[in-house]
Amino acid sequence: MNSEFPTYSFKLEFYDERADLVRPYVLSYFTRLGEIEIYDLRQRRTFLKKTTNHNVQIKDLYIGSKLLINGRQYEIIDYQNEDTRNAFNQQSQHTYAMLKPGFVNRLGEAIERITESGLVVCKLRYGYVSKETAAKFYQEHEGKPFYNDLVNYITSGPIVAMDLVGPNAIKKWRTIIGPTNLDTAKKEAPNSLRALYARSTTENFAHGSDAPESAARELQIIFGENAVELASQCEGSTLCIIKPHAIQEGLAGPIIRQIIGEGFTIAGAVMTTLEIPTAGEFLEIYKTVVGDYSDMVSELASGLLIALELVKDNAVSEFRKLCGPRDVSVAKQIRPQSLRALFGTDLVHNAVHCTDLEEDAPLEVEYFFVILESA
Ligand code: RTP
Ligand code: MG
Repeated sequence: MNSEFPTYSFKLEFYDERADLVRPYVLSYFTRLGEIEIYDLRQRRTFLKKTTNHNVQIKDLYIGSKLLINGRQYEIIDYQNEDTRNAFNQQSQHTYAMLKPGFVNRLGEAIERITESGLVVCKLRYGYVSKETAAKFYQEHEGKPFYNDLVNYITSGPIVAMDLVGPNAIKKWRTIIGPTNLDTAKKEAPNSLRALYARSTTENFAHGSDAPESAARELQIIFGENAVELASQCEGSTLCIIKPHAIQEGLAGPIIRQIIGEGFTIAGAVMTTLEIPTAGEFLEIYKTVVGDYSDMVSELASGLLIALELVKDNAVSEFRKLCGPRDVSVAKQIRPQSLRALFGTDLVHNAVHCTDLEEDAPLEVEYFFVILESA
């Protein structure tokens, strides 16, 4: 491989809905000019000729990543060769990050630190773990004096479970959170999240895996075994979607901080991707009302998004106000402090979706936190 400008290759899968078949492809990424090429393994021919006309970024190249290329959603299922595997195993280390109960209001700050350090949140679920899961998770501490308190605490309310990926993710996240002991954290790392937000050494804000083996084990327990039961209340709340382009641009942290700063509380949070038909179904009511419906649908299906269930008095109208007008140029004119004015770029890339009508709120919330969960 040319070491200055290597080419990386990945096994891709595309689910062909019409034929109900999974079709295999190979994606090559040419780092010199940032071109991609897609080869159709079944037909044995190039499917997409080398092009720079795409939205794939190097940070999106990891196993499990969903890529929207020319309207089709592919999933990276493996490396195509050992050179790519070696390059990316270091590039894309995973770690398990968890905000412990009672700290979801600092999710924005946590994600901001994660993004600033060059890591990507690739999974996120806000919810409950059972006593059994907590006991398994903290097995290494069984018998220690703080074990019971720890298990009781972790199951006392919803946690934010996250899978972080990127170079040196384990060490980076542990540096961001700081020392376990609160006094030590305050003395030695006053800017760490534990120093800033922990309440005690047990209620010390967050968890971070300490080695590749524990990261793999913990991610398996939490995400592999689907151990987090989503929190959600589905009433008196409204739905916010942080759109894929905003996630890609690293804006999730600042957006969430702004939302919390305006007095909303988070009752539900989940990161997910939508297939195009699902995004179309969710946005169905806009089909006949807006001219750019199909662009809205492809944006919503273009990558990871975060759905938030938000609570406040008059949640629907208050949050619509905070979002501002749908058209970012209008928002910038008349509501310069709104989320869309601050974080959007145009009509389709307007950073956030919000529930429009009072009566739709329970339905939209239920869609993400109940219906998609059971699909
Ligand atoms: P974590 O596993 O949560 O990332 O934290 P850590 O590696 O920094 O700390 P560890 O030694 O693994 O302890 C796990 C968690 O147990 C609680 N703890 N309480 N009261 C105490 O002396 C004490 N010691 C540990 C903390 O919540 C710690 O994060
Ligand atoms: Mg530990």
